[in-house]
Amino acid sequence: MYVRSFADGNGDGIGDLAGVRAKLPYLRDLGVDAIWFTPWYPSPMADGGYDVADYRDIDPMFGTLGEAEQLIKEAADLGIRVIVDIVPNHCSDRHCWFQEALSSGPGSRERDRFWFRAGRGKEGELPPNDWSSIFGGSAWTRTQNEDGTGGEWYLHLFAPEQPDLNWDNDDVRKEHEDVLRFWFDRGVAGVRIDSAALLFKDATLPNFDPDNAPAPHPFSDRDELHEVYRSWRALADGYAGDRILIGEIWLPDPERFARYLRPDEMHTAFNFDFLACPWEPERLRASIDATLAAHAPVGATATWVLSNHDVTRHVTRYGRKDTKFEFAAKTSAIPEVDLELGTRRARAAALLTLSLPGAVYIYQGEELGLPEVEDLPTGALQDPMFFRSNGTDPGRDGCRVPLPWDGAEPPFGFSGVGASAEPWLPQPSSWSELTAEGQARLKASMLSLYRDALRIRRSEPELQDGPLRWLNAPFGVVAFGRGDGFMCVLNLSDSAIELPGHAALLLASEPLENGRLPSDSAVWLRSFA
Ligand code: NOJ
Ligand code: CA
Repeated sequence: MYVRSFADGNGDGIGDLAGVRAKLPYLRDLGVDAIWFTPWYPSPMADGGYDVADYRDIDPMFGTLGEAEQLIKEAADLGIRVIVDIVPNHCSDRHCWFQEALSSGPGSRERDRFWFRAGRGKEGELPPNDWSSIFGGSAWTRTQNEDGTGGEWYLHLFAPEQPDLNWDNDDVRKEHEDVLRFWFDRGVAGVRIDSAALLFKDATLPNFDPDNAPAPHPFSDRDELHEVYRSWRALADGYAGDRILIGEIWLPDPERFARYLRPDEMHTAFNFDFLACPWEPERLRASIDATLAAHAPVGATATWVLSNHDVTRHVTRYGRKDTKFEFAAKTSAIPEVDLELGTRRARAAALLTLSLPGAVYIYQGEELGLPEVEDLPTGALQDPMFFRSNGTDPGRDGCRVPLPWDGAEPPFGFSGVGASAEPWLPQPSSWSELTAEGQARLKASMLSLYRDALRIRRSEPELQDGPLRWLNAPFGVVAFGRGDGFMCVLNLSDSAIELPGHAALLLASEPLENGRLPSDSAVWLRSFA
């Protein structure tokens, strides 16, 4: 959940914990088991909260620590668990450690918690190496001495407001273990680990060419990471009840990815291969196969993710000619989009993901079928990806627009019934068709489809643990069985198809056409016993 955009409880146009608490019944009715909160800690919001100034408190914009504790309890009473975001790779430049590092000067213990280095060149005017920030520009920023002359440089794989922590330093390890305990002690059921494969750096900080990266990579997927996650797992296992570790791991090699999911490391990690996959039957099937094959040897639960707060919403992706997702391919020239087609495919994708073996992550607004907002006024944009790429990347604000709850025009009840505060990002007026309240009343809405699918997913024993069995299917059709009694059929071909013999139709993403499954739609079937 991206709190800032979920629901506003105090009428200032910014989502907050009071807003979430008021909407917990909505989440229960939707059928979710857990909520992952993106960072809710005090933060200057240089990167939507992923620049954490204090890991043990709540940003005043969102509420108080006491309120978070209450929320955790209220959610638990409704059968919903809370997962918090842990950001170990970097903190905010406002974090007391970084402030202390700046004032303590070169060679200090305080600076050793980060990556401070002298610059190259005669006057140290060049960055220590050629690394680029993931958000664009150099990964180094130079500090200033008190007399105004240039000082050491510090490393930031993301924005300059997010200095990287030095994981070779013991303080850094101890601090994060303590932060984990802090939140586990407050009843959170798990942590989502931000940028989980980036923590360790080659301390010689060599130059490198990203298109021709050496192994081991100087800052990604380094072997030292596993020992840290083993210690986190031991810490989590020391608590009663389930305490789950979820990795944000973008790695192209499924085997390297699966190493993080060995039985004594993380429980699970986001499946970005599947998220990035184009809407093509062979590719989807291959991604599902590769996912299951990578998870099986380590006995980990697979995950299925279609959207999150970092990527173009899938209603929009699936409505384009090029349906895959790739950060590098994002452009400020808005590709043509057919939202009706995208929505139709998103409905089918919901039935696909919700019947695959594993855990499904739903990004807020996905259940309403929200598209990416691609025409936000430049003046409203906040994402450093937009600014640091000099606008060549439109940034991620378009998937972070405040949700439409009810009513016929913006702000669509975002700040409560009748409140008129302007949401922190403007909502399109076309969202009048997509409000939660409006959709709850319509059987054919995306919201009703998600509710129905989640209800059936809970009640069907076949959809719990247990493998998937591919079924023979015509070209362009993806079909699989779960257990003896369940089938999912997804038609990505251009024409309607006959359904396999079945005992009952459980759910369809589109009305059938004379008993046939139309193009870009999916069904759940009960097989003959
Ligand atoms: C991944 C987060 O999901 C993203 O929003 C953030 O910008 C980066 N990590 C850096 O923390
Ligand atoms: Ca608010």
